[in-house]
Amino acid sequence: MKRIEVEGTRIAFHDHGAGPPVLLLHGFPLTSESFRPQLGALAGKLRLIVPDHRGFGESGPAGAEATEMSRIARDALAVLDALGIRRAVVGGVSMGGYAAMAMLREDAGRVAGLILIDTQAAADDEAGKARRADTAKAVEARGTQALVDAMLGKLVSDRCPPAARDAVERMIRAQSPEGCAAAVRGMALRPAGHDVLSRFAGPSLVVVGEQDVITPPAKAQELAKLLQGSRLVEIPGAGHLANLEAPGPVNEAMAEFARSLPAALFNG
Ligand code: MLT
Repeated sequence: MKRIEVEGTRIAFHDHGAGPPVLLLHGFPLTSESFRPQLGALAGKLRLIVPDHRGFGESGPAGAEATEMSRIARDALAVLDALGIRRAVVGGVSMGGYAAMAMLREDAGRVAGLILIDTQAAADDEAGKARRADTAKAVEARGTQALVDAMLGKLVSDRCPPAARDAVERMIRAQSPEGCAAAVRGMALRPAGHDVLSRFAGPSLVVVGEQDVITPPAKAQELAKLLQGSRLVEIPGAGHLANLEAPGPVNEAMAEFARSLPAALFNG
């Protein structure tokens, strides 16, 4: 992995392949490793830039504050800056989708196209915020076991291939409880994304696992309605981490989307 310093914090990222630049933002409580099936299959067609968010994987610790989605967005923009990439397709899975919306808020001019996978436009309601506060306390008290107990069964579907399920569990267990708590608190602070999505005039792709119980297909339909001219792809049988559970059809949709974009879109 490559590394840069962003305001004193190390941000580690993969930069693999050649072709249109595609920045991929991972979900919670995972790392860039959750895009391994994309890094493996798509690097022949696309330039994939895949950071670990601060507090996760090989990036530096999150610090005592909440890791707001705008912080993750600014770290990702710094990665693009370091690579001299003016505009990229920005793809995000779940929390990574919230961060992609934050990138639109920070600087929509850097986003050549948008890929939203198993995510949603809505902010947390009051009950959701209270659940986040409890989750942050639980992970501080019991470590990542609290997240395995509460989340693993929702992140993957019953039909998830065992190797993918094991990889998700390993990723969760390997994260720092502090980084996870900071990101949970950051997700609770995110604004709704409806305004930035309806303003976004670029091309977009929305992907959802048919069996996603965290951000079900109705949430993806809402995203597709907000994004003008977007394509919505539902992946039969897949759960919340469709890119890991069913990489074949997700990779195909992503590659087709990126190939359809005119080269001029990346110059702007
Ligand atoms: C994720 O997969 O990133 C999280 O489940 C998103 C969330 O908790 O809202």
